[in-house]
Amino acid sequence: MSSVAPLSPQTPETDIEFASRDRISALQLDRLKWSLQHAYNNVPHYRNAFDNAGVHPSDLVELADLAKFPFTTKADLRANYPFGMFAVPREQVSRVHASSGTTGQPTVVGYTSNDLNNWADLIARSLRASGVRPTDTVHVAYGYGLFTGGLGAHYGAERLGCTVIPMSGGMTDRQVQLIEDFKPDAIMVTPSYMLTILDAMIAKGVDPAATSLRVGVFGAEPWTEQMRAELEKVLAIDAVDIYGLSEVIGPGVAMECAETKDGLHIWEDHFYPEIIDPETGEVLPEGAEGELVFTSLTKEAMPVIRYRTRDLTRLLPGTARSMRRMQKITGRSDDMIILRGVNLFPTQIEEIILTVPALAPQFQCILDRPSRMDILTVRVEARPDALPDQHGAAADQLRKQIKNRIGVSVEVEVLPPAALERSIGKAKRLIDNRRP
Ligand code: DLL
Repeated sequence: MSSVAPLSPQTPETDIEFASRDRISALQLDRLKWSLQHAYNNVPHYRNAFDNAGVHPSDLVELADLAKFPFTTKADLRANYPFGMFAVPREQVSRVHASSGTTGQPTVVGYTSNDLNNWADLIARSLRASGVRPTDTVHVAYGYGLFTGGLGAHYGAERLGCTVIPMSGGMTDRQVQLIEDFKPDAIMVTPSYMLTILDAMIAKGVDPAATSLRVGVFGAEPWTEQMRAELEKVLAIDAVDIYGLSEVIGPGVAMECAETKDGLHIWEDHFYPEIIDPETGEVLPEGAEGELVFTSLTKEAMPVIRYRTRDLTRLLPGTARSMRRMQKITGRSDDMIILRGVNLFPTQIEEIILTVPALAPQFQCILDRPSRMDILTVRVEARPDALPDQHGAAADQLRKQIKNRIGVSVEVEVLPPAALERSIGKAKRLIDNRRP
């Protein structure tokens, strides 16, 4: 589907994206030394954690020495709520954002004006990689507010020179109307909310393939290659993946390039990635799958040292850019379902659903423990054009495919179209009823 010509590596603003590995590593080492020292000098949590582990910023001589330093977790951020992880006086903090915090306290993050500036540059860089150009109009349907998606996308699209439509999430009919009227070239939105907007287009008689949209920049939740194929076909766009998390900066930590669509280039001049074994904490060799860990290299207001993301992926060498890639995320360790000894993720269910023609990519995984055995029920909607008497066969097909490909027996319920609640942001794919 890609119609994007590779960018010339010669412009000053793209130069670092194409730099040699030696140049990137040298820059990382300099910045990493600064970041460790900055955290140690200004954040009591890091000073204590380094002292307790018997390490000092001066112990970092080469990049691999980072493995000597302690990890940081979400619990550390919570324990220092709200501003205890900030490394600058509050007067120098230009903005705060916070994670949704499904349980308990939200995690708060802060930015100096330099941090905001770097963030806008990184989103602009990400958008350029997605095929968006300064003359384009960008419809931002990530939520605005404490969530980093909306404002992050917004300032980056402005920075690139685009016309921005700050739509936020929700008011789905209005989204469709403004896509029709304002004719944006690109949309930035969660893939699951894109599906909701698609439903609304179809309900209003709008042909999704005939809109002005050319690029979709989808992220904030896991989505699969099968979903990419679906969105590209139905909307006639290039669908590319953007990754990030509020603790590290927000969206724009890593981005897929439209010309290759082969995983997400980590913007390594600002974020240093490691992959660890989630059980032992040991750093894994390049290419092995494990938990992604980030250390910020330039952040002033809230440096993060070895922050455990809980996201599972692997690191791959650069392709369209020289910075390393991470493979599309399979899922978070928190979303891993262990069903009678077999590990699986909702993304694996999504992949299989999209191979059954009568089924729509609207689904939920529900875990119950009626007696001693766990039961997983996949509730999935039928496509509007599937006849009701095809639903039973579709359920059988999905059940068999899951058994064949993942190796577990699940229950499948095929629901009529529009039966499941729609997301306007991140979709909740897993409902675990086993815990009280
Ligand atoms: O979701 C930031 C963001 C906004 C990224 C818009 C992309 C686009 P948080 O709310 O802190 O920040 O959630 C971060 O979301 O650790 C992943 O588990 C998940 N996530 C984010 N992007 C992707 C992606 C934003 N492209 C958490 N693929 C992360 C899979 C993603 N999961």
